Amino acid sequence: MPLIRVRQHVNPLARKFQTPIDPPIWEQVFSQTNQPLHMDIGSGRGRFLLQMAQRELNWNFLGLEIREPLVMEANRLANQLDWQNLHYLFCNVNNSLEPILSSLPTGVLQRVTIQFPDPWFKSRHAKRRVVQPQLVAHLANYLVVGGEVFIQSDQHFLATQMCDRLQEHPAFTRVFNGVGEWLSENPLVPTEREIATQNKGEPIYRALFVKR
Ligand SMILES: C[S@@+](CC[C@H](N)C(=O)[O-])C[C@H]1O[C@@H](n2cnc3c(N)ncnc32)[C@H](O)[C@@H]1O
Repeated sequence: MPLIRVRQHVNPLARKFQTPIDPPIWEQVFSQTNQPLHMDIGSGRGRFLLQMAQRELNWNFLGLEIREPLVMEANRLANQLDWQNLHYLFCNVNNSLEPILSSLPTGVLQRVTIQFPDPWFKSRHAKRRVVQPQLVAHLANYLVVGGEVFIQSDQHFLATQMCDRLQEHPAFTRVFNGVGEWLSENPLVPTEREIATQNKGEPIYRALFVKR
């Protein structure tokens, strides 16, 4: 299937992305709204969740993505397959996460992934990065105790910064696998960006946090 072409980056601080979305009626999105929910922040083309949703039928999977054509294409695919546990939302996570989380059934959010977020290398663009203290606070509020946040990046500075933001919050504990600072493997399935990075032989920095 040919990939639709989209802009490589969009600026989440642009005026057109400042209106938070109205969350959907969840009963129209998932057939079992009370199943555990895995939320993928910056889901891109959505293939990671597509694989996860097939593997774990007893979970719901929600992708949040700011590039609308990618969301439309990913939902088109999910609808074609007629999977009732997978959906993607077009939104700016930095202003729509709280309305989305507060509209969900209580206690469903069990896993969050933030994988290869846009790095925004220049320090004057740091506010465009997705992992901000406010986002961490919302995750801390809505994740169940024992719920997980898995992050990964091919940029050491960005992975470190995401870890710092999560560690600063008293609700999160970092899980080490005993080998080194970073997890050596992805415990889930590889994302598109992850596969491209691995194919280039470049390092990946991964970390897991658990809500206390
Ligand atoms: C480099 S891509 C990684 C995609 C996928 N997670 C992967 O690993 O292959 C980062 C994605 O995050 C999305 N994104 C960036 N800022 C966002 C925001 N504020 N809200 C929602 N999505 C965002 C981008 O549009 C892009 O699709």
